[in-house]
Amino acid sequence: MIVEQAWAFRARVEREASLRFARLAGEILSFDPESPVPAMMRKAAEDEGRHLSLCEELAGGPVAGGADARIAPRSLGPREAALYETVAACCITETESVATVTSLLSEDAVPRVREVLHEIARDEVGHSQMGWAHLAREAAFLEVSFLGRWIPSMLAGAAGATFEPFDAALDSAELLRYGVLPISRKRSTFAQTLLEVVFPGLEQFGISTEPALAWLNTQRTKAR
Ligand SMILES: [Fe+2]
Ligand SMILES: [Fe+2]
Repeated sequence: MIVEQAWAFRARVEREASLRFARLAGEILSFDPESPVPAMMRKAAEDEGRHLSLCEELAGGPVAGGADARIAPRSLGPREAALYETVAACCITETESVATVTSLLSEDAVPRVREVLHEIARDEVGHSQMGWAHLAREAAFLEVSFLGRWIPSMLAGAAGATFEPFDAALDSAELLRYGVLPISRKRSTFAQTLLEVVFPGLEQFGISTEPALAWLNTQRTKAR
């Protein structure tokens, strides 16, 4: 049951990502027609559609839900909002997804689950990279340091229930065989990826990760 629910949750995330990338491709094209990113976003939207089917297969059937929602604060202009969404969806969520799937692939999952994880891992690496590519391009055009104060909101969205209290069944090592990280492992993977990949990446563009680090420390204290 936990396994099917986890794959159904992923299926909804994939559908949401597919719709978001298709929309962002159009938005970015409208203000930066020379950018290579919109084509990467369109390809990513197709990939996520494929991932959706794979996740539904492992969830045991069709999964409803997962809509395109604009996640940027209303106070931001359209170009800043597109950057916000790209950083949240790609630099953070896709990077975390790569870490999760890589961590799962280091374990002994059943063969079909391994195949699915391999296919997803291959694509998500590219989806993460397109986020960093867009951030680099925008950093040459506008002041991107405004993102610093918003990173905690992005992280809260990406973390979902990761740091919430959990039932012991969610921490069973048996879950690894079916492509689901036990919650304590999920927490450590999530935090390690922020500290080693995401935060240093953001700092390179002059985006302060101090508020983000404070957010992470609060979550870790709360989860203890
Ligand atoms: Fe995906
Ligand atoms: Fe993706």
